[in-house]
Amino acid sequence: MSEWKRYTITAALPYANGPVHIGHLAGCYLPADIYVRYLRARRRDVVFICGSDEHGVPITITARREGVTPQQVVDKYHRIMGDAFAEFGISFSIYSRTSSQTHKETAQGFFKKLYDEGKFIEQETEQYYDEEVKQFLADRYIQGTCPVCGNENAYGDQCENCGSSLSPTDLIHPHSMLSGSKPVLKKTKNWFLPLDKLQPQIAGYLEQHKDWKINVYGQCKSWLESGDGLQPRSMTRDLDWGVPVPVPGAEGKVLYVWFDAPIGYISATKDLLPHTWETYWKDKDTRLIHFIGKDNIVFHCIIFPAMLMDHGEFILADNVPANEFLNLEGQKLSTSRNWAVWLHEYLEEFKDKQDELRYVLTSIAPETKDSEFTWKDYQTRVNSELVGIFGNLVNRVLVLTDKYFDNQVPEARECGELKTFTTDQKNKITDALENFRFREGLSELINLARHGNQLLSEKEPWKTIKDNREYTGATLYDCLQIIANLAILCEPFLPFTSKKIFDMLNLDPASLSWEDAGRQDLLKPGHKLGQAALLYQKIEEEQIEKQVEKLHSQSPQTPKGGLNTKTMENKEPSSDTAPGSALKPLSPEIVFDDFARIDLRAGTILSAEKVEKADKLLKLTVDLGFEVRTIVSGIAEHFKPEDLIGIQVSVVANLAPRKLRGIESKGMILLAEDTVGRLHFVSPKDLTENGSIIK
Ligand code: MF3
Ligand code: ZN
Repeated sequence: MSEWKRYTITAALPYANGPVHIGHLAGCYLPADIYVRYLRARRRDVVFICGSDEHGVPITITARREGVTPQQVVDKYHRIMGDAFAEFGISFSIYSRTSSQTHKETAQGFFKKLYDEGKFIEQETEQYYDEEVKQFLADRYIQGTCPVCGNENAYGDQCENCGSSLSPTDLIHPHSMLSGSKPVLKKTKNWFLPLDKLQPQIAGYLEQHKDWKINVYGQCKSWLESGDGLQPRSMTRDLDWGVPVPVPGAEGKVLYVWFDAPIGYISATKDLLPHTWETYWKDKDTRLIHFIGKDNIVFHCIIFPAMLMDHGEFILADNVPANEFLNLEGQKLSTSRNWAVWLHEYLEEFKDKQDELRYVLTSIAPETKDSEFTWKDYQTRVNSELVGIFGNLVNRVLVLTDKYFDNQVPEARECGELKTFTTDQKNKITDALENFRFREGLSELINLARHGNQLLSEKEPWKTIKDNREYTGATLYDCLQIIANLAILCEPFLPFTSKKIFDMLNLDPASLSWEDAGRQDLLKPGHKLGQAALLYQKIEEEQIEKQVEKLHSQSPQTPKGGLNTKTMENKEPSSDTAPGSALKPLSPEIVFDDFARIDLRAGTILSAEKVEKADKLLKLTVDLGFEVRTIVSGIAEHFKPEDLIGIQVSVVANLAPRKLRGIESKGMILLAEDTVGRLHFVSPKDLTENGSIIK
């Protein structure tokens, strides 16, 4: 791994339209920071790049909602986000922004080069246009009735009720969310990146990276292999917020936010290193790594690399260790519903407890699957692991050394066994970090501290001091070396703790690097230690209760309605618009006759297969007793086709047939959706004859 001359590490540029919450931290910024700190500890040449993503529809939506300009929105949040990252020790080399002049020039220059070389396809398409506000409408700005389930509040890209992915022209009675008026179709010209033509190159690139995390590799594969493969994608938009398209005939158009934002990594590097930035982006010996959340995979593994390949001068990412999502107290994190733990608010209650949060979020990081933060679990982990193991060791050893040895490091003794243990732990942590397994690295770190505690309980220095001073000194010497090792090894994870320990040991952090870890003589006999202080404090029950209460009181039970701030225009699938993230309020009352018109029947699923080019749809054949039907259901992201065969379900049997992706669907399957968006079949409890009436 050391063949790399330098590292360019990027963390996804967050949209500047809301503060940072624990989901952002756990998904992307914390793992990136841990990795970068580790590289620095190894004295590698590394730049750590981030900044605010200040373009795109979410910003304009926030501006509209708050009654201010988009520039005011991004100015406000750019500062709030930058401060929050800094406070939690996220050690970016630069936190830049995409509304900067450097960025505008870089993004336009990039586009212009591709344009001049004829890399784009220029094409006219019909898009919905709002004649009242005189604006083309992004998909998320259009609402109407879902053709699949009849939900009247479906969006132009997706129905959140049944999960179908839609395009705006699918909606029945579409209306503009800006003015409420009926949008009209209007011709407009845009520039498309021919991803279809680039597909072989992209597939080749992916094949060289079979070592990527399985969730990342798998998602890319399915993008490449589903349906007809990649499709041309427009790199320009009819919007008034963004980087103006720098070519003739493109007045009133801006670059697609997913074209300009990743170029933001390059512009930020330029701002950081005006003279040498190119080596970090063009030299083959530079290792480029993107840290992102899973909703960004396609953009970083397919679209951005395609842009870079087309451009020709740049290196491509060597790895993209994307994380899954973090949930909070049983629900998806959501900015729009205020279901989140905001970083700046966390510090109000837990002053100076940045490392406690870093610790917990790393321990539960959604590295291979979605995971969950609960305040109870936070309390348990802090109290039992940080206070009980790590802090306890450091405190006991320092207090005893002060008491018995006048705060000086006692004489050494030969302790090969301990050296081996410490070296093993260091190697395990190193290996975990090199492979982006941060949870595992952290748990091996705690194991080292745990070992120190075991040593103390076995050797009982508080007893041996009575008649064997030398032995006692040797025990404390060993424990002090473990602590010095912990100070080095914990730095990537717990930088504030590391600094405190170095202070307590009266050691200069700069004098030791990762290579020194494993040594059993980091502190010399006679070395005068610093002032001992408690590393961590217990989290009390009341503090936790207060947080849980706060969470529930700040979040409305239902989505606030109106516009969701994350949109498919920017992301697919959206992380923040989970269907039914909280229990929905009851629908208006109906009379028995309304219900009686619905003919519900029991039926058994005979076969299930994916529908081409539709991520969410499964084509099912269902035996209803009196006939076997085809039913297309929006459940592909929830169930594997092979798991469905033989399940008896409830079917709305008299629903008018509809065509979905060319397949006639006759009926609908009933599902219960829980608050985290999981689906459950509503099945007769005991198997009943197919066709049985459900009433
Ligand atoms: N703003 C996007 C998000 O929050 C991430 C952009 S990453 C970049 O999901 F590469 F485009 F910069
Ligand atoms: Zn629907």
